[in-house]
Amino acid sequence: MINFKKYGIEMWPEEKIQAFRLALLTWYDQEKRDLPWRENIDPYRIWVSEIMLQQTRVDTVIPYFHRFLKTFPTIQDLAAAEEELLLKTWEGLGYYSRVRNMQIAAQTMVEDYHGKFPETIEEIRKLKGIGPYTAGAIASIAFNLPEPAVDGNVMRVLARLFEVDLDIGNPSNRKVFQVMMEVLIDPKRPGDFNQALMDLGSDIEAPVNPRPEDSPVKEFSAAYKHGTMDKYPIKAPKKKPISIYLKAFVLQNQEGKFLLEKNDHSKLLAGFWHFPLLEVEEEQELNLFNPVSEGNDVLDARTRLEADYPFAIDWEEITLPQVKHVFSHRKWHVDILLGHVRGNPDVPEGSLWVSAEDFSSYPFARPQQKIWEIVESNLKAT
Ligand code: ADE
Repeated sequence: MINFKKYGIEMWPEEKIQAFRLALLTWYDQEKRDLPWRENIDPYRIWVSEIMLQQTRVDTVIPYFHRFLKTFPTIQDLAAAEEELLLKTWEGLGYYSRVRNMQIAAQTMVEDYHGKFPETIEEIRKLKGIGPYTAGAIASIAFNLPEPAVDGNVMRVLARLFEVDLDIGNPSNRKVFQVMMEVLIDPKRPGDFNQALMDLGSDIEAPVNPRPEDSPVKEFSAAYKHGTMDKYPIKAPKKKPISIYLKAFVLQNQEGKFLLEKNDHSKLLAGFWHFPLLEVEEEQELNLFNPVSEGNDVLDARTRLEADYPFAIDWEEITLPQVKHVFSHRKWHVDILLGHVRGNPDVPEGSLWVSAEDFSSYPFARPQQKIWEIVESNLKAT
């Protein structure tokens, strides 16, 4: 057992812990949100919801959740899914490695567990893409096991309840919150206890504009009592993402079809289709007397493009808005270059000429969607 005092934490006596459980669960029974993954405790549904909720807000997740379960109603369907359909169903949620890992985990369940979810935390934890948080959420909600599910929301709530002076952004501090939860969790209703903290953390105890006055457990909160709500949780500022500069080539052939490439190499976006994209050294200053389409970075990128596609191209001298997209550690700045290819030349394997009406059959990652939105509105305007 961790020595809480070492971390400046005053753990409560047993009677106070019991009173806290009662207050929290009574509130949850009255106020819990009516969410589709709470209709039953099918572990497959709980798993899908937890993976989606790691990256996206509840309101956004709900339609994706329904669509995913309609497309892949069982673990077997997910295990056998075509990559294209898998990515398409996840399109817009981002972090596609999560759904790829889900498929690998589903295949493991088909092969090793007769297509069922394993029922111990150790086995759940071994599945691809399932970390301690998700394993705890599934074990507690679907199998009623007294396992904590510690995410940012839960750490925030605990940090305020106990005035925890540890940086919640530092992964090595997570274990302290995990052990706090092992002590606090209600052994009879662990899934509801975890979900009550999730509900509390995403609304009344939100990161910004919390409403501590409305909290069902405000009497237990040291930060509330001492007026230190705005100090907790402690969170060091995140590092800025690294900027990457790219040129996207939107090339149309004489039939009006667009050149698309399938990404097979980069880990980040493997399996997605996009306009040819080339990384350039640095962004050029935008100079009104020297339009960005004439900059050295543009000429350099065009030369490199023509090595892959030796076409006769008439370039459009037009400056479209730059597309910006932030992945977790990288920020893309994409300039869009438009060109008309003479004739309908053949393209190498992995590339295709595709008409805009057929784009919906090809998975597009978010930056590609943003590029297309800009190009499409430019086409409509001209
Ligand atoms: N966030 C993560 N998991 C959740 C759940 N089961 N209910 C509500 N919000 C959540």
